[in-house]
This record gives sequence, C-alpha cells and structure tokens, in this order.
Amino acid sequence: MTCWSAPDIVAYRDTGNNTGGISPACSELLDSLDLPLCSRIPQAAWVLTAHGEELALTRPDGVKLTIDFNAGKARHRAAESGKGIRTLARALGLNAYRRQFGELPAVIDATGGLGQDAWALASLGGRVTVIEQHPIVHALLANALHRAAGHGEAGDIARRIVLLHGLAEKLLPELDGHAIYLDPMYPERKRKKADSRKGMQFLHALLGPSGSCDDGQLLPAALQCAVSRVVVKRPRGAEPLPGAEQWRGQRTCLESPNTRYDVYHRR
Ligand SMILES: C[S@@+](CC[C@H](N)C(=O)[O-])C[C@H]1O[C@@H](n2cnc3c(N)ncnc32)[C@H](O)[C@@H]1O
Repeated sequence: MTCWSAPDIVAYRDTGNNTGGISPACSELLDSLDLPLCSRIPQAAWVLTAHGEELALTRPDGVKLTIDFNAGKARHRAAESGKGIRTLARALGLNAYRRQFGELPAVIDATGGLGQDAWALASLGGRVTVIEQHPIVHALLANALHRAAGHGEAGDIARRIVLLHGLAEKLLPELDGHAIYLDPMYPERKRKKADSRKGMQFLHALLGPSGSCDDGQLLPAALQCAVSRVVVKRPRGAEPLPGAEQWRGQRTCLESPNTRYDVYHRR
C-alpha cells in the first residue's frame, strides 16, 4: 500500500520591485486559501507564491508549476484542435449536436485538474463549466483563466469557461449541459506515462493515490443528471470507473492509442 500524506503548503507574497506588486485578483485568491504566510522565501517547502499577476506552486525541490493558457501545449491545442481533443469531442457528441442545432453544446467538465481538456474544449467554440474540488488546484486554474482573459483570442476562450470550486457530486445536480466529462486520476498501475508529465506529478503529490474520487460516488452522481451523455476518460485496458456496474443503459467506447473514452448514453 502506498503511504501518502497531503503536503503542508505555505503562502509567500513576492513583492519584488520589477513586477509592479501583486495584482488585486491574485492577492485575493492567495488570501482566500488561508494558508500560513511566510515573510521570506521559504526553502525546501511547498510554497504557493503570488508574484505580479501570477500564482505558482513550488515543490521542495524547487520545481515550479503555474498554469499558462497562452503558452506551449494549451495554445497549440487551441490553435490546432489536435487528435486527442477530436476524439474527446466525438465522444461528447459535439459535432452531432452542432449538425442538429447549429451550435456547440454546453459541456460540464466535472474534474477540472489543470484545465487542459476544458481549455481545448472551449477553444472549439462551446461553453464549458469546470468543477475542481482541490482548493490549490482550483486557485491555480482560476488565476490562469483570469490572466488569459486579458489576451485577445485566449480571452474569448477564457470567457467561455465558468469555473466552480467544490465536489462534483454536490454541484452537478444544479447544473445544465449536454454532456458531463469525467477525467479522474488514472489507477496507480497505469500511471507510468502520465507521471512523466510535471503537471501530473504535482496532482499526484497534492491528491494522493486515490485522486480524491475512488469511492464510487462520482460516476453514479453524473449518471443521475439530466444530460445526454456522460464520458469518462480511462487508460486503455483499465476497468471502467467504479459505479459503472450499476448502469443498465447503453455504453459505447472510443479508443485512441493510450486512452479509452467510455460513453454512457442517457438518451
Ligand atoms: C486527472 S485530473 C484532470 C485533468 C484535466 N482533465 C486536465 O485536462 O487538466 C483530475 C482532477 O479531478 C479533480 N477531482 C477528482 N474528484 C473530483 C470530484 N469528485 N469533484 C471535483 N473534482 C474532482 C481532482 O482534484 C483533479 O484535479
């Protein structure tokens, strides 16, 4: 059995001279978390730092995580609508909906994480409501969306995303949408490839082996909502998410080289 304990995280306000101070939005986010505040840069600790407009989480080994939708892969995915997102869009039935109604449907991403999938979905042109339960992950995501909102095309994408903080099981019954998307953490034995990515390493350290939703509540909660379908991302060859065994409706699968999307059709 893996031994895991949640890291103790401290806050640091980096008011370095050349940044013009910490932005009010960033400052407010940091304060809302109620973390112990350090007056000097802490060494060898988990630190959430507010610097200018940016919130960043640093591990004890000095490796830093910030979410930036204007850079790297997120930008590429937005521009190119890569193959991975096309498979997810098919699983969610986005194009079929557009053919029927002339616009993309609203989707609920109930396991927001670092927001990569939500960003890619919103970049296709539809509205996405994102739920994230972990306060630090939620704060990093809220900060990234806030920063992106000030940048041209990225701003348009960011404004199509609504971010909520809380447990999906509790929030889903209040929400409307065409489809719910679930991407919980992969089972431990399937994590090798995902673990090579920095963002996933941070999530595993923050969330622990269960990823906070191994208790079989999430899928049944999603399946009770008034949506057309629920899509669950799994590694190829993995068991369906706990709760699938109670489902009596139609279930189909879409596969790409490393990933399987289980589609639960409600109507
Ligand atoms: C694998 S990550 C999702 C990655 C995301 N799809 C992306 O593109 O970045 C899973 C996330 O779901 C969140 N999560 C797990 N169970 C949840 C629940 N019941 N309600 C809300 N969020 C949950 C975790 O905190 C974690 O941040």
